[in-house]
Amino acid sequence: MECPMNHERAPQYYGDYLGIERLLELQKPLSLREGKLIAHDEMLFIIIHQAYELWFKQILHEIAACAEVLSKPEADDDGPDMNVVVHRFKRVVEIWKLLNQQVDVLETMTPLDFLEFRELLHGASGFQSKQFREIEASLGLRMESRFRPDYYKHTELGGFNAKDFAEITEFEQKPSILQLTERWLARMPFFEEGFWHGWEEAPNEYKTGERPAFWLRYRQLYEQSLSDRDDKPDLLGKFDDIFFHSGWGSFSPASLRAALFIMLYRDEPLFRLPFGLLNSLIEIDEQLSNFRYRHLQMVRRMIGTRVGTGGSSGEQYLQGAVNRNYIFKELAGVITFLIERRNLPTLPSRLHRALRFNYSDR
Ligand code: HEM
Repeated sequence: MECPMNHERAPQYYGDYLGIERLLELQKPLSLREGKLIAHDEMLFIIIHQAYELWFKQILHEIAACAEVLSKPEADDDGPDMNVVVHRFKRVVEIWKLLNQQVDVLETMTPLDFLEFRELLHGASGFQSKQFREIEASLGLRMESRFRPDYYKHTELGGFNAKDFAEITEFEQKPSILQLTERWLARMPFFEEGFWHGWEEAPNEYKTGERPAFWLRYRQLYEQSLSDRDDKPDLLGKFDDIFFHSGWGSFSPASLRAALFIMLYRDEPLFRLPFGLLNSLIEIDEQLSNFRYRHLQMVRRMIGTRVGTGGSSGEQYLQGAVNRNYIFKELAGVITFLIERRNLPTLPSRLHRALRFNYSDR
């Protein structure tokens, strides 16, 4: 079969390939009258929003590809698939950093410049960004976990049109990155009996009971690592709860134990990609929350405490969203339970060998 790349092709033209002419026709300021832009900064306002939406499209493209890999029942943890997932999530982090910087450009518009055209926006708001909602939903922000879900999803003035509402609802039904990560963590095989049989680090007293010896030992080391100023009973109670009884948020105890184990032994070759994945998810949450905060600060400067064009209480609502709308906060919370690297128990040799790239004994 002939290689498609060898085909004689008509040369491409930059503007045609990128659809530049059409793209540049899409800025239609409402204050443009008889060829004159009455509110000069409305052009900036439109272009900034469009630039955000283009990057949102790219973010959704990356998330969809990562979800596809993580949905595989047997995603290879040290293989090319997982490498691509980590790489793409890192790209999402970099895009968010860029988006957060763009707020500086928008802030060159003064409140008075904004007032020149603000009333024309009646009902329209970034609140209605379908792609932003899809990013939140595909990462795993659930309706019940949001601040003021009643503000967020409706079809009254300031809410979504029927088509967007239906499409967001459809997105919310798909397995999210949060759910897929939880399942992926829960099936980690490090605590299979075969790896731990006869583990010399655990004195006899730790070998009984329902918990694997490693975690009995680890709990004791964790207790020793706490300072007098830490609330020991509270932290140990949370340790037991989170890792052995109720889990935390959407995470089961087994998946949180796997997350903690990966974070602790992240220097083991086979844990580099899994650690990279957990780290990128925590970073995405951090960048998203930076966006919410930068946006809130900008809104304060722009409209003070007036209500938003989308009909919410404005600053008050946005502050609530900053405080509440985290997606991977339980993963970040696992960090509370780390101990110093130098005090980590030595792993059984069988498991240690299995965590190297070349091993035959598994
Ligand atoms: C002058 C500039 C801006 C002002 C004054 C402003 C104001 C607001 C206000 C007051 C809200 C709350 C909802 C409402 O009642 O309207 C909101 C929500 C939102 N805005 Fe903006 N905004 C501005 C620029 C932007 C830009 C450039 C973006 C980029 C896409 C954006 C994205 C959003 C998003 C995603 C929400 C929903 C936040 C959430 O529910 O957590 N905004 N905005």
